[in-house]
Amino acid sequence: MEYLFSHMVNSMHAEDVKLLMKQSSGKSMISFAGGMPNNDLFPVKQIDEIYNSLPDNLKKLCFQYGPTSGFPPLIKSLEKYLEKKGLPIKSDKILVTTGSLQAISIITQAFVNKGDIILTESPCFVGALTVFETYGADIQGVPIDENGIIISELKSKIDSLDKIPKFLYITPNYHNPAGIIYSPERKKALLDALSGTGIILLEDDAYNDLYFKEDEKYLTKPIKSYESTDVEIIYTGSFSKILGPGFRLGYMLASPEIFDKSETIKQALDACTSNFNQILANEFLKQGKLDSYLDFLRNEYAERKEILIKSLEKFMPNKVMWNEPKGGFYVWLTLPKNINSTTIFKESVKKGVVFVTGRTFDPKSKKDDCFRLAFSNVPKEDIEKGVKILSGAVKKVLGEN
Ligand SMILES: Cc1ncc(COP(=O)(O)O)c(C=O)c1O
Repeated sequence: MEYLFSHMVNSMHAEDVKLLMKQSSGKSMISFAGGMPNNDLFPVKQIDEIYNSLPDNLKKLCFQYGPTSGFPPLIKSLEKYLEKKGLPIKSDKILVTTGSLQAISIITQAFVNKGDIILTESPCFVGALTVFETYGADIQGVPIDENGIIISELKSKIDSLDKIPKFLYITPNYHNPAGIIYSPERKKALLDALSGTGIILLEDDAYNDLYFKEDEKYLTKPIKSYESTDVEIIYTGSFSKILGPGFRLGYMLASPEIFDKSETIKQALDACTSNFNQILANEFLKQGKLDSYLDFLRNEYAERKEILIKSLEKFMPNKVMWNEPKGGFYVWLTLPKNINSTTIFKESVKKGVVFVTGRTFDPKSKKDDCFRLAFSNVPKEDIEKGVKILSGAVKKVLGEN
């Protein structure tokens, strides 16, 4: 039977995402593919204790529907948590969402008609690209360097367009896939560049808490917390990288008008986010368990990053370049010109190592001379072995062995 599927499901990046999820869970592989936390790091014991000590009325509430905007005590806890990051929780409103990907999807539904322009970084988080494609957006990528989006490129892109883009989507802190963090100067310059253009900034801050060094925490300051400008900023965050993606818990912070429209859209999507997960997450925050758990996570991820960087230095041919991330989950590698990461992938998968190719994160699904290694979910003892195999595949493609 030939099904008459809608245009909406034929997104270029959707197949990439499906493949990525599959590769991430392949048991016999060493997988640098999925950007997910490590199973052994989840706060299983703490969540056990929280659920077991809940009073009966809250246990019952776990099973119930809740308000579309979110479980009110969680919103209160989130306000405290976001206020510490300098975010404007008095003038703006929080909408709890089913993962922050849902927040991105809601914002896209709220603003984007088929053919409207969305600006993104290039490379860009593939989950967001899939959402934007699904709604028929014309995605225009702007290159980044080690300090963030390149302002001159952004300005010339905006000047070259015949319509005002609906928004610019960015991940300023511990970028997925590029691993970079925007410098404070670049964050300010971006606001200056957007000022007066009418382009909304969609700031995705899913990795904000995952800095490796306490004295670099200041770098994670959200753009939405910068001194007031005329730029409208919608901020999104997630519990996925700090408690676990199984919670499917995210949120957005936006002006009351945008919040109202978003709440209506969410009502139609899933009525509310799971009360079960919201209640557990709220207790985690309220009981002050997050800070010590985050210290533990940061150490674990910093250790994995160290092992990965050392292994790359040991085995990877010196024609390949990479960044050393200050936080988050990812290292982004750049190959010599004309070498495709897809060719390397084909070699490396035969030997049992997977990663994500560069073209997956390219808004036009073309540029492939880069690739992403996620160190977050690889057992420490497998990292060096995985890099050795991968480097062997790279050398083979480069004709070095
Ligand atoms: C940059 C970025 N934003 C958002 C998300 C989605 O997070 P969530 O699980 O909250 O939907 C991810 C997940 O990989 C991500 O890397």
